[in-house]
Amino acid sequence: MYRTNTCGELRLSDAGKKVTLAGWVQRIRKMGSLNFVDLRDRYGITQLVADDSADPKVLEVLNSLGREFVIQAKGIVCERQSKNPKMPTGDIEIKLEEIVVLNSAATPPFTIEEQSDGGEDLRAKYRYLDLRRGPLQRALKLRHQMAIETRKYLDSKDFMEIETPFLIKSTPEGARDFVVPSRMNPGEFYALPQSPQTFKQLLMVAGFDRYCQIVRCFRDEDLRADRQPEFTQIDCEMSFVEREDVLQMFEGLVKHLFKNVKGIEFNEPFERITYDEAMNYFGSDKPDLRFGMQMHEITSVVQGHGFSVFDSAEYVGAIAVPGCAGYSRKQTDELTEWVKRPQVGAKGLVFIKLGDEVKSSIDKFYTPEQIQEIAKACDAQKGDLILILCGPKHKTQVALGTLRLEMGARLGLRKGDVFKPLWVTDFPLLEWDDETQRFYAMHHPFTSPKPEDLDKFFSNDKEALAQVKANAYDIVLNGNEIGGGSIRIHDRKVQERMFEILGFTHEQAEYRFGFLMNAFKFGAPPHGGLAFGFDRLCALFGGQETIRDYIAFPKNNMGRDVMAEAPSVIDDAQMDELFLKSTYKKEETK
Ligand code: AMO
Repeated sequence: MYRTNTCGELRLSDAGKKVTLAGWVQRIRKMGSLNFVDLRDRYGITQLVADDSADPKVLEVLNSLGREFVIQAKGIVCERQSKNPKMPTGDIEIKLEEIVVLNSAATPPFTIEEQSDGGEDLRAKYRYLDLRRGPLQRALKLRHQMAIETRKYLDSKDFMEIETPFLIKSTPEGARDFVVPSRMNPGEFYALPQSPQTFKQLLMVAGFDRYCQIVRCFRDEDLRADRQPEFTQIDCEMSFVEREDVLQMFEGLVKHLFKNVKGIEFNEPFERITYDEAMNYFGSDKPDLRFGMQMHEITSVVQGHGFSVFDSAEYVGAIAVPGCAGYSRKQTDELTEWVKRPQVGAKGLVFIKLGDEVKSSIDKFYTPEQIQEIAKACDAQKGDLILILCGPKHKTQVALGTLRLEMGARLGLRKGDVFKPLWVTDFPLLEWDDETQRFYAMHHPFTSPKPEDLDKFFSNDKEALAQVKANAYDIVLNGNEIGGGSIRIHDRKVQERMFEILGFTHEQAEYRFGFLMNAFKFGAPPHGGLAFGFDRLCALFGGQETIRDYIAFPKNNMGRDVMAEAPSVIDDAQMDELFLKSTYKKEETK
């Protein structure tokens, strides 16, 4: 038997027991005649001790140890002289009787402690060492608990977990596909699923009624802190449901997870706001409700007083930042530069300081009474700093929303341990793209229009089409989209019209989605569902917004696995076998 106990479980009540532990050497210390080793495994750290009068064989092995050696240690559990109340095992130590090196270790390139001294790249290259650290061990443990609790809840609601294929025909979710060449079908390619969307709909046609799957998805898109090229969804679909049924079911899942993983109970229903409200009040379709500072449109209040910048703007909007009326000139100048950064994209920033004295950057154009009118329109209080942006409506709303988030962060209002989930509903069905002069599905092409908008949907008027609302919803947590879904089109005619609006010819639609359209001929039930971004959900539950630590082996932001060095070139023989001809040589770019 390699071990009788783990490094996390022995307590004072075990004193006197003879035990065998195994693990990694975290730290070696010598204090006077005493030799200490901190032994670590997944469960914790236990202190081993031997004094200079111990068995010489033990002392010899102790002298040969280095960090991260794998050892087996036998000894007696003893009460410690100086206890460590910060450690669960801090009351005891193991008096060594025997010690065996199971494997030596090269010196690790960074310290394996709670806070490592290794840079991100180095830690990514030695991911297996980084994974030994407490924060990553805890992150993956949380992920495991989340998966278990998700399955428990969904099973209790009669969902069946069914696996769907990875080698498929493209499913559009708005990103590029990763493709896989087929050796047995020369010149042809599979796509890796961006989601199991079409398959879960086919499972509804097949009568499974409630499907779920914790499933890997693949998207070739630009990466960010909350995006990986392969990521995991909790993917779900239900038959014979309306929007309300879906929202209730998955609000239930989120509440179950909060209760059973975090011990947090939500007694009230989650807030719901429409997409239009989200844009008007928060400048984002994924509002962070941990703090107020709502946006106010003040176009009609500020126009007509001779200030041409406002008079010529389509939209003027403002936020009132609490307690910041005392901002200095330097601080407002810095904020002005901040909003002008390309990532925010505003042309300039107007401010009003509601201090004992009211000061603003537009005193020349507005009387004190008019300034008070503006303050009133912003629901501002004495002591607030009003920040105003103007320009084209959508763009300015987004910029003001970004400024709101920044001010929330600066004021410490976006706390990692406060959770504000909400639903955003009634998204537009279609998005017009000026560059390609066509509509795109805002969610995906299987999302149904709201029934009251069907006339507009079948009209040929671009304006009317742009106004059609989708029966789609997102679930948002602390400013992050953690899931999205919709009630699907189950009527072949509506689906055909959708493909037509998206610019597919009948033949193209048939070529790409014929299998789904065909299935709809054979009795498709009304259905709908949603998918959560599982990595995001885990990261947020862990109080982080970066998903990388919640994935055992993630890619870097160039989509590379820097540990295994993937992607990599393949040899000519393999290329030939796959009927691929290399037109790109890596060397050429050097
Ligand atoms: P959607 O495209 O909104 O919907 O994806 C669902 C959720 O998956 C997460 N997500 C990602 N997480 C990490 N990295 C990525 N690259 C990434 N892309 C998306 C987000 C998102 O909310 N088939 C539909 C769902 C449905 O309609 O039922 C779908 O995939 O948290």
